[in-house]
Amino acid sequence: MMGPCHPEIYQFDVLDSTNTKALELGERGAIHGSCVVAENQTGGRGRLGKQWFSSEGMGLYCSYIVRPDLEPQDYPKITVLAGLAVAQSLDEVAGVNCKLKWPNDIIVNDCKLAGILTESSGLSLPADKRFAVIGVGINCNQQLSDFPEELRSSVTSLYLAAAKKFDPITLVVVIRTRILELIHQLCQSGLHNIIERWQEKDYLCGKTMRCVVTTGEIVVGVAQGVNKGGELLVIDAKGKSHRVLTSDIRLAGSSDFT
Ligand code: BTN
Repeated sequence: MMGPCHPEIYQFDVLDSTNTKALELGERGAIHGSCVVAENQTGGRGRLGKQWFSSEGMGLYCSYIVRPDLEPQDYPKITVLAGLAVAQSLDEVAGVNCKLKWPNDIIVNDCKLAGILTESSGLSLPADKRFAVIGVGINCNQQLSDFPEELRSSVTSLYLAAAKKFDPITLVVVIRTRILELIHQLCQSGLHNIIERWQEKDYLCGKTMRCVVTTGEIVVGVAQGVNKGGELLVIDAKGKSHRVLTSDIRLAGSSDFT
């Protein structure tokens, strides 16, 4: 299993979480660009401790191990980059128009198509031991009835959006190529270009939302888009600008706004 001299795709029928397996393989030295794919997950993990609903054989569940030449404090930039890489890949392969809901949910037709959970390991260790895992969950070939009832009003799939079925492994490879290209770009020339592309896909900009900001306050305001560092800004009713913490964002008009 270990010791590939080129990035491998490790395929499994079932795992609890591809992120957990990728963290394990990363600790054991899996190289930059290696990835773990499972047909099904029994304990798929989402952001903020949530579960990620995984339906056997119909979704794409994969985790990329990346070893960018970055200082530990720059690792959060990988989260921003990962959203763009997935959105661009899905636009290209499926002919959809993905939007990015900060920090990195992928939205099509106002519904969630994909989610990303980025985790890192060994950040306090020497550079050759550090790595990040980019976990990508894509609703691929599901019909609406394949999702639990409580999710049906807020999710979509590539099949629903593009009216055809997709081969998950083809997507895994396209996304990997895009992630590696953007990491190369980030390490060579910084986040600037990536942020510009990200801003073109910003789903939240101009929308009224409730969120927790960096001071810990709960603020209702209008999203102003992301700044050069990839932080989301929100302006409150008094005109004061705040930086949003990575946390649950509730949109005005949605059932969970209050
Ligand atoms: C989110 O939107 O909250 C992030 C969801 C990330 C889910 C993917 S599925 C593949 C990988 N393995 C996991 O356990 N989680 C990520």
